[in-house]
Amino acid sequence: MRLPRFVVTAGPTREHLDPVRFLSNPSTGKMGFAVAAEAAGRGCETILVSGPVALKTPAGVKRVDVVSAREMCAAVKEAVKGAPAVLVATAAVADWRPAECAGRKLKKREMSGTLRLVRNPDILKTVKGVRKIGFAAETGAPEREAARKCREKKLEFVVANDVTEKGAGFGCDTNRVKFVFPDGGVREFPLMSKRLVARRIVDEVLRA
Ligand code: CTP
Repeated sequence: MRLPRFVVTAGPTREHLDPVRFLSNPSTGKMGFAVAAEAAGRGCETILVSGPVALKTPAGVKRVDVVSAREMCAAVKEAVKGAPAVLVATAAVADWRPAECAGRKLKKREMSGTLRLVRNPDILKTVKGVRKIGFAAETGAPEREAARKCREKKLEFVVANDVTEKGAGFGCDTNRVKFVFPDGGVREFPLMSKRLVARRIVDEVLRA
């Protein structure tokens, strides 16, 4: 059986309003890097499209660095070309960006106190013709939201977690996840290392 190419998004995106200011989130990229390391370790061609993070590229992985959601979207579209691919979207993509980005540092007197935002593309929704796995970090019971995202974005399954739980938030080395399938099926896992979560995700992808 031919192994699929893994295209993994990881980390946060940054949405600049000028060269020194941006909107972002606390994602560290650990989950995505663990998935990429695991996929490459199993012999799959692996492309990691990463936002700004402080992690070393895993062995055998091709890494593409991006900053904004729009750059991430373009890099993913490029990465899925030419081979049967599985997109594993672990990135915490900013849903909105400032309507304008100044080419130079803005002076505080030039800023009004109101920031106008516009929507970013939804990468998982935009990319078509590949198998897709999503993530859903929620505060509170994640299953219902995950099942909705699974159907709306046409995903094989969603890896859902409650970021308010101990050991399951941003930056941890562990996570407690559930795989939520489009038919409403749920597979629950105990608290485990992100490395082991990554192994379970790759197992599930390669099993299908
Ligand atoms: N995602 C994406 N592109 C975006 C936003 C999210 O590809 N612009 C992906 C994430 O990488 C993740 C999944 O979509 O795999 C769910 O992300 P989340 O932010 O939880 O979902 P949203 O669709 O933005 O849902 P909501 O804000 O309604 O919770």
